[in-house]
Amino acid sequence: MPRVFDERDLFYLRQVIEDGLPCAGYGAGKMTQRFEEAFAAKVGTRFAYACNSAMSGLHLAVAVAGAGAGDEVIVDPTVSFAGLAVMYNNATPVFADVLSDTYLMDPQSLQERITERTKAVIVTHLWGLCAEMEEIMAIAERHNLVVIEDCAHALLAQYKGRYAGTLGHLGVFSFQCSKHLGLGDGGMITTDREDFYQALREFEFTTMPDKLAWNYRISELVSAVGMAQLERIDEYVEETCAAAEKLNEAVKECPWLVPQAVPPYCRHVYHLWVPLFRGEEQGLNYEEFQRAAKEIGLPCSFGYIEDEPAYLHPVFREPAAYGRGCPTACPHRPSVTPYERGLCPVAEEILPRMVLFYTTVAAKERVEATVEKLRRLRERWGKKFHFTP
Ligand SMILES: Cc1ncc(COP(=O)(O)O)c(C=O)c1O
Repeated sequence: MPRVFDERDLFYLRQVIEDGLPCAGYGAGKMTQRFEEAFAAKVGTRFAYACNSAMSGLHLAVAVAGAGAGDEVIVDPTVSFAGLAVMYNNATPVFADVLSDTYLMDPQSLQERITERTKAVIVTHLWGLCAEMEEIMAIAERHNLVVIEDCAHALLAQYKGRYAGTLGHLGVFSFQCSKHLGLGDGGMITTDREDFYQALREFEFTTMPDKLAWNYRISELVSAVGMAQLERIDEYVEETCAAAEKLNEAVKECPWLVPQAVPPYCRHVYHLWVPLFRGEEQGLNYEEFQRAAKEIGLPCSFGYIEDEPAYLHPVFREPAAYGRGCPTACPHRPSVTPYERGLCPVAEEILPRMVLFYTTVAAKERVEATVEKLRRLRERWGKKFHFTP
């Protein structure tokens, strides 16, 4: 089902416009406050704090965690976002490896990367599946670390009966258009901790803030659409899950296209459906698969973040920020393991093999056509390489 914008959205938008208060902050409109309360109630946290994107949210979350120059924050290498947010704060991203079947942070690797400078961890629930949060929280507790969940893909994803965004100390959501709650940009930070919530409020921008603050306010108009879309979120998530179920079924027992493994205690919400190409183990060539997929018009893309983990990209390796090269060349920056190939071997191995299919709020017919194309491809390849499809 494609995303629906209708009278319900206009109903909330009209309230903002008729009140003549389209700006949040400065004691003006109240729609953002309503959106925050509705979001917190939906996810199940005491507090929610709206901002204008998940990147702003991650920047703020790292700041609230107290990480700055000279501190380290452990992040996933499969995305850029967490590492960038750490650098926004002049802190140092330290990359932990991931598990090859779920693509999510490996708790053992996290443990190995902790030093006396580690302040926080950002765990990315990649593609809508929650990481091993019980183990991660136990490690964090032993080392007194703040855990930030990047929930950009994971609205209403569940881990052992609890929603993403309630599992760590702070959760960060994205309302960028490709996400389940696509509002035309926006973000939300969830927390149960009153001290963190108060700290977020202290970062609010004013004409002369008490401390360095960024103007990350969300618009009341976006919050109005957020109120309407939040009422539809269960439907959107169910549709995405139903699409993924069909796609999983289409590659059941397929030896060369293996879906992300979902532990039985998790609910994956499939922002994207992303299997791995594992054909080489059957003597099948990846380039040939890509050619066949293109020929048949399979709507997918191959590999993620240009097939390389974040730490191999120039923005992390070169002193490219803040004029003189901070934070990479910052004098306060501790010497971390260099960002070289081999740092996170599992991430390096799986990123190029990811085959990305768009599922969030996609039309049913599109999903059915994809399923049909996958079936045809399996049939063709089964014959060609002499194994049962
Ligand atoms: C995992 C993850 N985190 C953070 C972001 C940043 O989101 P935003 O565009 O709302 O800043 C994205 C964007 O795609 C994302 O995929």
